Amino acid sequence: MHVILMGAQGSGKGTQAERLAPRLALRHVSTGNLFRAAIASGSDLGLAIKAAYDHGELIADATTVSLVDLELASIAAERAGGGSSRGALFDGFPRTPGQAESLNDLVARRGEAISAVIEIAVPLETLVTRLAGRRVCTTCGRTYHVEFDPPTVAGVCDRCGGEVIQREDDRPDAIARRLDLFFAQTEPLLAYYRGLGLLERVDGDQPVERVTDAIAAALARRDVSAAGEARS
Ligand code: AP5
Ligand code: MG
Ligand code: ZN
Repeated sequence: MHVILMGAQGSGKGTQAERLAPRLALRHVSTGNLFRAAIASGSDLGLAIKAAYDHGELIADATTVSLVDLELASIAAERAGGGSSRGALFDGFPRTPGQAESLNDLVARRGEAISAVIEIAVPLETLVTRLAGRRVCTTCGRTYHVEFDPPTVAGVCDRCGGEVIQREDDRPDAIARRLDLFFAQTEPLLAYYRGLGLLERVDGDQPVERVTDAIAAALARRDVSAAGEARS
């Protein structure tokens, strides 16, 4: 069982995925986090993608899909070993038609299915305010906002004590580029998933906890319930 969170940059995909993944016993799979980890490690992949990433451009489909393939294999291996993850909670993937097609193939090949696609809908003005004020922990990835959700001590992560900084692509020019790409490349995928009968739209312009509850309710309607509750 896999679930996709879709929404523009700043809509709260990462914030919601962190809260929902443990509750649903799904693994949080953020392609953005995977790319940031690769860049931070200085690996060949990290070096190859850094320039595109910093400018807010999309990474090539083949590169992105190969990382997701590895994650799906790792989730399946963990489950076979008695682990608790029931599937992936995708955050920021797929975001091109090519990626959506590849995901269908990867999932079908494993005899698995996409259970639901959640659209987190947020107006453009709100997106820009959220991205400009976002801060992230360099160690554990916890997301903060200078105004809506600041760390207790400025610059220090509440959860792990790591350093809290502004992301390289949260500068105004990169923010504008990323939002353009969303509307050009990713928004059409919403219609695609609506056509497959998988799409649920949730109002993302409300407090974090309310958005979490709305997503959980939408998933429950599709028989994706919290781990431990009755499930199909
Ligand atoms: P990625 O890391 O996925 O970034 P993004 O798509 O730009 O999305 P964001 O992380 O900016 O938004 P979010 O929805 O997660 O918002 P968040 O929860 O942080 O991708 C980065 C880059 O990697 C891409 O530009 C590309 O280069 C590459 N990449 C990644 N995936 C790719 C793919 N599939 N194909 C190709 N390239 C790919 O929230 C934002 C802020 O708002 C935070 O400060 C948060 O505290 C605050 N906030 C959240 N919810 C609320 C609320 N309800 N009320 C008030 N504040 C809130
Ligand atoms: Mg994110
Ligand atoms: Zn941290």
